[in-house]
Amino acid sequence: MGAHRTRREHSIVAAFEGEIVMLPPGPKGKLLSGNISAYEKDRLGFIVESSREFGDVWMFDRRIAVAAAPGAADEVYRRTYRDFVPDRNFLHRRQKEDPKLQEQWAHSRASRMRGMRPKALQAKVPILAGAITEHLDTWAADGTLDVVPDMRKLTSQLGARLCFGQTDAAIVAGGEQDLFWALLPVIASPVDVPPWVPTRRNRKVAAANRELERRIQTVIDRRRAEQRSAEDDLLSIVMTPTGRSGQLDDQLICETLIATMLAAQGAPAPGMAWIFHLLAEYPGVQDQVAAEALRVLPDGPDIRWEQSGKLTFTEQVVKEVLRLWPPNWLSGRQVVRRTMVGKYDLLPGMMMMVAPYVIHRDSRWFSDPETFKPDRWKKGGETEDLPECAYAPFGAGPLICMGLAWSMIEMTLLTAMVVRRFRINAVPGCVVTPDASREITPSGLRLRFTERKGSLGTGPSARQVQAAE
Ligand code: HEM
Repeated sequence: MGAHRTRREHSIVAAFEGEIVMLPPGPKGKLLSGNISAYEKDRLGFIVESSREFGDVWMFDRRIAVAAAPGAADEVYRRTYRDFVPDRNFLHRRQKEDPKLQEQWAHSRASRMRGMRPKALQAKVPILAGAITEHLDTWAADGTLDVVPDMRKLTSQLGARLCFGQTDAAIVAGGEQDLFWALLPVIASPVDVPPWVPTRRNRKVAAANRELERRIQTVIDRRRAEQRSAEDDLLSIVMTPTGRSGQLDDQLICETLIATMLAAQGAPAPGMAWIFHLLAEYPGVQDQVAAEALRVLPDGPDIRWEQSGKLTFTEQVVKEVLRLWPPNWLSGRQVVRRTMVGKYDLLPGMMMMVAPYVIHRDSRWFSDPETFKPDRWKKGGETEDLPECAYAPFGAGPLICMGLAWSMIEMTLLTAMVVRRFRINAVPGCVVTPDASREITPSGLRLRFTERKGSLGTGPSARQVQAAE
């Protein structure tokens, strides 16, 4: 955030159950609409500016507080399920009110996490590489691409394979995209209409959700009928009873896998689009990624973890892009009991928003924070001793992103595989703006992908490409 301006950190004094409490300070806003119109005009700008002015914890309005520094973010993340509960997504709100469902979701999470252990995921690199190659084969040798929808399609297919394996992913494929597109206007809307209100949008979401549940149930029934229980995917893991939670019911299995599939493309798709955008803006960095890919990856699509795990510079690029453009730029929690964050009181019923976007652009934690510098992530670099939650694109604490390890493997490999095969260039006249109506997305982004000379369609020969450049 550059140099910090003089801060107005005077707390707001209020009364709660007969006691004086000190709420965080914040912008006053307009008499009737508060800060909504300023926020809607420029969401990112408003959050950054207010954090500069009012400090590490501040109030958006009487109901919503914002954590804009690592210490405050760490407290909120780690005290989730104690002082805070997650602000549940639109589809699965009933979980918030029902402690039994919360417990079952926690068990499902624990099961899915077993399938997301780095070792289990590293074994999936050949499958990932194969699917990425198939997708890149559909690109023109020299063409302009609408990057975000294309990446949604790909990351969604990769997520479906993670959840349902090679064979059964096809049964589910597409259903989750329909649900995503039905959900988009509902989630992006500033007006919160509960799912049970039969608006046209809500009915569309409900229909797409039912269809996806039906497809997943088909896969579950088939696996039971064919006694296929040892598939190498998340469905198989959540279908296996555990000593602690027994057998999860089918409805819960469907819900948790739908949540996983939606998350598997919700953040990675815009994340990948930002990566390609920045590589087009910084051709020198793109050349370094290409050189690394040619050095460590074998020719063609047969790639294993032993090779892709050596893409260290490419991984630095991914980390740096997620610092500048963390797709989940705000994470919400509800305050469930009177508590404190930093020196301020928070009261039950309030919302607490953690703002990684602000923290990631604060010069107290990152030098020259607005600049794209992948080298800050190299071994022994400036990020080695960051405080907890100074970098948290995947959140932290009990709700930390389940897809962290998967995303890092997927995004690093995908970046390297694209760049070794295509040169990425900006399209003249294309104006890119960050859209923060949900995950931050480079709206309007189109890029030109030109196959490098000597590329062989299903993956270039390293020697050919090196010789050509
Ligand atoms: C760029 C990639 C990704 C980013 C930046 C990201 C970020 C996040 C963040 C910040 C949260 C926590 C939200 C909170 O604290 O309230 C989260 C939760 C979650 N993420 Fe990701 N995510 C990514 C990719 C993925 C992928 C690929 C998957 C699945 C394969 C996934 C599955 C999930 C799930 C299921 C949750 C909810 C966890 C729970 O409720 O227990 N994410 N993600």
